[in-house]
Amino acid sequence: MKVTQATAPGKIILFGEHAVVYGQPAIAAPVTQLRATAVIRDSSSGGVRLSAPDLSRDYWLQEVDDDDPFAGAVRVLLEAANLVNPPDLKISVRSDIPIASGLGSGAAMAAAVIRALAQHLHLANLNNNESISKLTYKVEKILHGTPSGIDNTVVVYEQPVYFVRQQPENHIETLAIKREMLFLIADCGIASSTKEVVADVRRQWLADKEHFDQIFDSCGRIAKAAKEAIRAGDEKQLGQLMNDNHKLLVQMSVSSEELDRLVLAANEAGALGAKMSGGGRGGNIITLVEKSREDIVRDSLRLAGAESVFTSLLTEKA
Ligand code: PMV
Repeated sequence: MKVTQATAPGKIILFGEHAVVYGQPAIAAPVTQLRATAVIRDSSSGGVRLSAPDLSRDYWLQEVDDDDPFAGAVRVLLEAANLVNPPDLKISVRSDIPIASGLGSGAAMAAAVIRALAQHLHLANLNNNESISKLTYKVEKILHGTPSGIDNTVVVYEQPVYFVRQQPENHIETLAIKREMLFLIADCGIASSTKEVVADVRRQWLADKEHFDQIFDSCGRIAKAAKEAIRAGDEKQLGQLMNDNHKLLVQMSVSSEELDRLVLAANEAGALGAKMSGGGRGGNIITLVEKSREDIVRDSLRLAGAESVFTSLLTEKA
């Protein structure tokens, strides 16, 4: 019996959250330690069986509606391959990426399923990053309506992505990794609604456009400088830019006492820099650390209240 397995990582925003909504560039990066895994087995049971044990789900592909993202991932791949009558298969997924926490769990699950299927069915023309990313984007549409395209790109290429929201098409650029970089991601344990925080930033912007446009411009300059720092492998500069970006997020009032405490703890333990990440007022912080300081920064994040600490190790990639 043939078994095929593929995985995809989570994603996190490294620079430019909120400002990106106003046309400024942002950078997202993979979270290598948190992964979604898809396993495909040939079977003889009369159809395509989908199983997601983490979600206690087990069902037939033909049973579910169009809005089911797991079935959606299988369907977009079969459609792209013009496979009207697929062979009998058992497809299972599991994931260690927390759901609904801005870590790209939906995109990672879809990407893992699509990659595993393209491999299992020997679809050489679809088994490449460009096709897998495009198909993952289609699945993201089922979940999010008009996704930005950033999540699918990060989780498929496993590289940082520089992104600008613009018409007629968003600008998306993968960034080479010149030198290994180690990030720790700490969850403050408080859930928050990105949608509500985005709406609140809009209210503040409407009340004082001049001030907020200045903050957004500064975030944009930081993201541009960060792109160059990543390309140059300049960790010191990157860490400083993270600290600068965090200060601007504090000015937007999207940070919180808990997030600020984690950022401070990371820096006091000798991190190269730290900032909150994503929507804010809860969720995660991200910090860049030298390998020799990993354990001390991790301990200090835990002491400062982190509920969990994840690792992302980005290795050299052209
Ligand atoms: O927490 P996430 O990964 O969903 O990031 C939200 C990023 C924002 O800029 C705050 C919102 C957005 O849609 O870009």
